[in-house]
Amino acid sequence: MTTPISHPFYLDCDTGIDDALALAYLLASPQADVRGIGTVSGNVSAAVGARNTLDLLQLAGHAHIPVALGAHDPQAGTFHGGAPHVHGANGIGDVSLEAADAELVPGTAAEMLVRLAHEHPGQLRILAVGPLTNIAQALRLDPELPRLVQDITIMGGAAFAPGNITPVAEANIANDPEAAADVLAADWDVTLVPLDVTMSNVLEESHRQELLAAGHPVPQALGDMLGYYFRFYESQFGRACSAMHDPLAAALAVGGVSAAVAPVVRVDVDTTDGPGRGQTICDLRGRYMDYPEQPGARCRVVLELEGDFAPHLVEVLQSLSGPEGTTAAWSVGAAVA
Ligand code: RIB
Ligand code: CA
Repeated sequence: MTTPISHPFYLDCDTGIDDALALAYLLASPQADVRGIGTVSGNVSAAVGARNTLDLLQLAGHAHIPVALGAHDPQAGTFHGGAPHVHGANGIGDVSLEAADAELVPGTAAEMLVRLAHEHPGQLRILAVGPLTNIAQALRLDPELPRLVQDITIMGGAAFAPGNITPVAEANIANDPEAAADVLAADWDVTLVPLDVTMSNVLEESHRQELLAAGHPVPQALGDMLGYYFRFYESQFGRACSAMHDPLAAALAVGGVSAAVAPVVRVDVDTTDGPGRGQTICDLRGRYMDYPEQPGARCRVVLELEGDFAPHLVEVLQSLSGPEGTTAAWSVGAAVA
């Protein structure tokens, strides 16, 4: 059996239940060597997301991975307060994890990203599963960033699918359209994982039960968190299940799953103040007609997946192994400061 090649990864997130799943997926993947994590306001504030990330890392036995605090406010405007109705008051489904001993590292998330890109020229891979404020900031800090990183995978946007914040805008893009416009205009190898594919690959209650039954505290805690997430998605799917936004982006980034349909097209972000604000305008006219490649067509937009994602996700999360003595240190419904 050949050992998969491991790539250095920078994760940018707004942790978040599905962000927690994406983090756990990366930690369980031999193809990913997570070198740093930055947080941004989205599902929760950047500070609460950082706390959640540190606590999850400790539970997973990876407390050594540095976490940097990122932007609290988007490029234009102020943080809107998060999505407690989706992710719980603490962002992780009101599951209370043991507080991590580790502290945040000095410096901003954007500074961490730029430093990692210089430390691993041509090798660093970025997975961004929150608003793109930190990534846009990093581009301003070092315009050479696109040349230095291998690629960037972004969970965000909606191509043919409706939005989940406005009729046309998806949350990660809607929370900072100006940053998203900058990031999608940069000249790098970019993959967009929009709602088209994340809403059509769902995790069912049977999968959640498999996580709860796993012999490791991380999948068990994730199973608990998913109880909250499922209650939100019940109104949309009519049964206990959930979309799989961020872990699907993680799996595509590491190559654990493959895209079946993923045209490389031009993507613009609407930054006007009209009803289209935050929309990802993907030039998919080639779907219906013989259409010549457009200038600026550099974004791979994942529209359909090969195979069934949920069983793969469960299998990868079940394979998590921690150091000896990792214990189940969490409780559901406990008060969170
Ligand atoms: O629209 C879904 C995205 O918004 C996910 O990344 C979720 O975690 C939230 O950030
Ligand atoms: Ca997220």
